[in-house]
Amino acid sequence: MSATIIDGKAFAATIRGKVADHVARLKAEQGITPGLAVVLVGEDPASQVYVRSKRKQTVEAGMNSYEHKLDADTSEADLLALIETLNADPAVHGILVQLPLPGHLDSDLVINAIDPVKDVDGFHISNVGLLGTGQKSMVPCTPLGCLMMLRDHLGALSGLDAVVLGRSNIVGKPMAQLLLGESCTVTIAHSRTRNLGDVVRRADIVVAAVGRPEMVPGDWIKPGATVIDVGINRIERDGGTVLVGDCHFESCAAVAGAITPVPGGVGPMTIACLLANTVTACCRAHALPEPEGLTA
Ligand code: GUN
Repeated sequence: MSATIIDGKAFAATIRGKVADHVARLKAEQGITPGLAVVLVGEDPASQVYVRSKRKQTVEAGMNSYEHKLDADTSEADLLALIETLNADPAVHGILVQLPLPGHLDSDLVINAIDPVKDVDGFHISNVGLLGTGQKSMVPCTPLGCLMMLRDHLGALSGLDAVVLGRSNIVGKPMAQLLLGESCTVTIAHSRTRNLGDVVRRADIVVAAVGRPEMVPGDWIKPGATVIDVGINRIERDGGTVLVGDCHFESCAAVAGAITPVPGGVGPMTIACLLANTVTACCRAHALPEPEGLTA
């Protein structure tokens, strides 16, 4: 193996440390405590784990956490009424509605009811449009974390060839916009892309976010490329369950210059960036300077 392993766990701890420092300064100098409201509808076990983790890390960073757990059969009107209340609450700087929502609720309608300034997921249509036009926005947490890791590892990204595998609204599309903002030459590849191996082989930066276990083999990777593996796939192997990424780690690491592992790569960065976005939202709400190194 020749690649540098990008330690997302350690990097996320650094980001959380910067968030905590900024929160402490806001409290001491402005008397403001950033607050994050998380709304969970229903009892999806994976969502419950995420929400618990978000709450714990929010509190550890010194911020206020407001948790709203609603029954699975909550009506859209009741959920929208809660969002209106949170939009109007000055103690709440960030609002996150945990997805997926139960089938009877329209996710787009609910997300677009959040005040865009408090939309720490960056999913509101206004934030999507602002990012797409290169304006200041809230940036979705996972691609923001990927960008932070790329900048940390490579420095300037200008002129590099980047291939984003996957075209989701949550990762692929915003990731491509961010890389374009860094003056990369960006290709979005997906399940219908022809000669995918040849496309990926051009890339100085590969961001894999397709949700297919180990689909990127080492011989698709340009020697020395930086590989960011967003995939978290649970598979059966050797009689047990293991987590693997969208890239075949061993063979990609043998060729790449640097690669993120799964687990311990992109995963920990997502919640760290949620905390970063909450501090940013708080600063914007109070017209204060934004924290350095925590935004796109
Ligand atoms: N469910 C899984 N990931 C996410 C996320 O990043 N944001 C929200 N709101 N829900 C999720």
